[in-house]
Amino acid sequence: LDNGLARTPQMGWNDWNTFFCNINESLIRQTADVMVSSGMAAAGYKYVNIDDCWSTKSRNASGDLVPDPQKFPSGMKALADYIHAKGLKLGIYSSAGTTTCAGYPASLGYEQRDAALWASWGIDYLKYDNCGDHQGRNGQQRYTAMRDALAATGRPIAYSLCNWGQESVWTWGMPVGNSWRTTGDIAANWSSITGILDQQVGLEAYSGPGGWNDPDMLEVGVGSLTATEGRVHFSLWSLLNAPLIAGNDLRSMSAETLSILTNTEVIAVNQDWGGRQGHKISDNGNLEVWRKPMANGSVAVVLLNRGTSTSTLSTTASALGLGSASSYSVRDLWAHTTSTSSGTISASVPGHGAAMYIVTGGGIVPTPSGTIKGAGSGR
Ligand code: DGJ
Repeated sequence: LDNGLARTPQMGWNDWNTFFCNINESLIRQTADVMVSSGMAAAGYKYVNIDDCWSTKSRNASGDLVPDPQKFPSGMKALADYIHAKGLKLGIYSSAGTTTCAGYPASLGYEQRDAALWASWGIDYLKYDNCGDHQGRNGQQRYTAMRDALAATGRPIAYSLCNWGQESVWTWGMPVGNSWRTTGDIAANWSSITGILDQQVGLEAYSGPGGWNDPDMLEVGVGSLTATEGRVHFSLWSLLNAPLIAGNDLRSMSAETLSILTNTEVIAVNQDWGGRQGHKISDNGNLEVWRKPMANGSVAVVLLNRGTSTSTLSTTASALGLGSASSYSVRDLWAHTTSTSSGTISASVPGHGAAMYIVTGGGIVPTPSGTIKGAGSGR
């Protein structure tokens, strides 16, 4: 979407993956505090996003949504002021149907009223879900109506489509939203992460600056995901140019979780200004190689071991699309070390683990598949 926002994938936090409906203004304020004090804001995270369950169960007499006075007694304007004073941005949630997934009133037919209300509070981001009755309208119509209502407010509001990959949203998402969910909901376990990963193959042709494929929010530091699995998740979501929306409780995260979420070398792959999404180049059962061409002529690579025991994975500079050179520089983005190679990149990778590198040398050999297919010129 050409609204000047999300020229690189958006970064922030959302309450859903850990708190579900158990939210309130203290949680949001404390999360903003920690986002700054932990160094996450300095690493690029800026949106603090409220998900489902923030309102009362019905609109007021004038037809407006009302923040639940138990959960948000100070109101949303005060909360936005607090967040903005920290240099951060506040996100809200609704659905392109008659109700949200948790049964709260939603915005179908109320697009202009709701967008104007959010803008009056100082909201900076909308996650727009797909629950409730659709009143016979398709996704493209319902999501476009809210795009236009947000634009009419005159306030820059990042717009995240959450229709779970339905109606091949990637084929029409670019002129409509800043990102679009490509799958159903993520869960904090290995099979969910890898299952979602498998559904991203081929979608790389549709994303670019202003509009990103969204394989759902991060589960790093949540549930049964180990730190090794968390590094896999963060490496691949970064390589896929996914929005990096943390979903853990920032107030109680371990030092290890924080170090994953603030690995600035991995984040730099996600935020590369060239905006080309990474993709899978080889798949040998449990062993996969993913690459992303970077704007400066280097290539980011993830060697992924989906098996349960340690295996050696390798690829070559030529398979990564690099031209020939007598030696390549290989930067390990998790070990933070640099080595040189004559062309083979290989690593011993633990089960449910990944290695991630940037390989430089030889320059990227252009391929004809370098154009973005998304409908319209909305970027
Ligand atoms: C479905 C979405 O996909 C989730 O991310 C979350 O927003 C829930 N709805 C909230 O009900």
